[in-house]
Amino acid sequence: MSTRERTAQAALAEAAAAAGQAPSVHNTQPWRWRVTADALDLYAVRDRQLDAGDPEGRLLTLSCGAALDHAVVALAAEGWATRVSRLPDPADADHLARITVTGRVPVTAAAMRRFQAVRLRHTDRRPAGDVPAAPEAVGAIAAAAAAHGVDLHLLTRDQVLDLAAGASRADRVEAGDDAQRAELVAWTGGDRPDGTGVPDAVIPERAPETTVPGRDFAHAGTLPIGDGHDKAATYAVLYGPGDEAADWLRAGEALSAGWLAATAQGIAVLPYSSVVEQPAIRAALRHAIADVGYPYLVLRLGTADPDAAGPPHTPRLPAGRTVEVADG
Ligand SMILES: Cc1cc2nc3c(=O)[nH]c(=O)nc-3n(C[C@H](O)[C@H](O)[C@H](O)COP(=O)(O)O)c2cc1C
Repeated sequence: MSTRERTAQAALAEAAAAAGQAPSVHNTQPWRWRVTADALDLYAVRDRQLDAGDPEGRLLTLSCGAALDHAVVALAAEGWATRVSRLPDPADADHLARITVTGRVPVTAAAMRRFQAVRLRHTDRRPAGDVPAAPEAVGAIAAAAAAHGVDLHLLTRDQVLDLAAGASRADRVEAGDDAQRAELVAWTGGDRPDGTGVPDAVIPERAPETTVPGRDFAHAGTLPIGDGHDKAATYAVLYGPGDEAADWLRAGEALSAGWLAATAQGIAVLPYSSVVEQPAIRAALRHAIADVGYPYLVLRLGTADPDAAGPPHTPRLPAGRTVEVADG
């Protein structure tokens, strides 16, 4: 193997490790990377799929799409140009993408800023602050998502009330389903020493007084929250033209790009996936966006709660569990 190939392979392995910081549903990190001399292959890990809450794997694929974008961002910050092929093997639906290194490029300030945001980004389940996200910041988030062919529909006040009703209904469905309840218990709460799942430290100590209820984790966590609400928050639906695995992967890439842009602008993000998990509630959401596309996820965008300290970072699996470097 030449020195250049060795350098590329080391950069690919580092990018795969950095992609471990990507957001994923219930912090399942349902991905595996295989590093070769000039490519990085991304596979879905079905053992970490939420079989009850996400039987089709749409949230798993969205999560893997976010990891895919994180890896590309990490490589760009090291001056590597890349080409991405999505679902490259028709015989293997779990082979979600291949990133190939195509050469060296100058590192731009924007590429550096995006990579810095990878380390800072986190989910914020506290109430939103009273200051709305600036329209320019929301525009930057929408533009980052649009670069991946995914749009952001900003919900009107009436649509937010419908969303609140949908979120409450989704919580009731989940609470009444033994398998989904068991999944919630398995993936959330406690300290999460194995590096997966949502620890108590990032779950609010009490339910915030928000119009749209956050996901019901069925128990209180230890994250201190202020008395704020979500009156100044912007709720947005990420949506796109198709509703198949390739579309969910793109949606995940757009989620990552939009969330990194939000982080760079100081905007706090909270995803809402319970409303897309149930087909009937997802259909209502599709209707709310006038059937212009398929909804992938709802995002709450806002300024951070000024009355309480930010949440700590959620733990991650060690890179050795998700990244395999091929010999050669
Ligand atoms: C597809 C997807 C769906 C998610 N849905 C929710 C949700 O409904 N409620 C919630 O509180 N967090 C949700 N999250 C946030 C994850 O729980 C979070 O990304 C994960 O625990 C890792 O934490 P971090 O984002 O702070 O790094 C979702 C994330 C993704 C990628």
